[in-house]
Amino acid sequence: MEIYEGQIVIVAGGGAGIGAAAATLLASRGAMVVVSDVVLANAEKVAAEINGSGGKAVARELNVADQTGVSNFINMVAKDFGRLDAIVNSAGIVGPTNTPLEKITAADIEKVLAINLLGAIWLTQSALPIMKAAKYGRIVHVASIAGKEGNPGMTPYVLSKSAMIGFVKAVAKEVATEGITINAIAPAVIKTPMNANTSEETLKYMISRIPMGRLGEAEEVAEMISFAASSACSFTTGFCFDTSGGRATY
Ligand SMILES: NC(=O)c1ccc[n+]([C@@H]2O[C@H](COP(=O)([O-])OP(=O)(O)OC[C@H]3O[C@@H](n4cnc5c(N)ncnc54)[C@H](O)[C@@H]3O)[C@@H](O)[C@H]2O)c1
Repeated sequence: MEIYEGQIVIVAGGGAGIGAAAATLLASRGAMVVVSDVVLANAEKVAAEINGSGGKAVARELNVADQTGVSNFINMVAKDFGRLDAIVNSAGIVGPTNTPLEKITAADIEKVLAINLLGAIWLTQSALPIMKAAKYGRIVHVASIAGKEGNPGMTPYVLSKSAMIGFVKAVAKEVATEGITINAIAPAVIKTPMNANTSEETLKYMISRIPMGRLGEAEEVAEMISFAASSACSFTTGFCFDTSGGRATY
């Protein structure tokens, strides 16, 4: 039997990149995936591809920054499908890059935090009552190596991801005895639409920091997500799994 057989999994930010790869992989391992994204058309495309290749998925519109919207969405999924086994949160934006701190505005910080950090908090907060009642749940937030190492010129992004890692550590301990594990994933630079506009020079710099000397693939991150969001991840919580080609080894 496939490891996700019979499970309902939400993938937030599932319309592109790492989220789309995770949705596809988890569906291929038996999950019914609720592909959700602020860009509904992209979520629909991913869900259609999954259904077209024999998997099970539905698409839903979701803005993770909207606390009430997230709460309504999570409750609706639990009601419609009768259970909620796992949430993979891959929704995120980069915000300013190549920008010195003196040029960062309050609006820049608020926008990045609202999606990257508060989005993770609203998803977790809304899912916990359902997962506690079921005495089972898996939550995986996609953070970044930037949150561990601090990439220069992109302070709002870096602080959103390091705060996300801290959040995961704290809340995982709160629910450690309730059958729920909450973990983070820290990828180095991955070939996804997020990097479509990243300059050659910046990409070269990022690759030069990776001992494997190449970009990561979304499917490689999805493999780590697949473990962390599964029942097999039963004795690891509050952890940050790296997928960084050797860039971070701590
Ligand atoms: N690509 C990389 O190099 C890299 C490296 C480290 C971490 N990450 C993180 O991985 C996650 C996925 O990144 P990606 O490279 O796949 O990016 P991506 O841009 O390809 O995909 C992100 C998805 O999130 C969605 N999204 C954005 N704002 C949203 C919101 N408010 N509500 C719901 N969905 C929203 C987008 O529409 C998009 O479909 C992000 O959190 C990113 O910070 C990416």
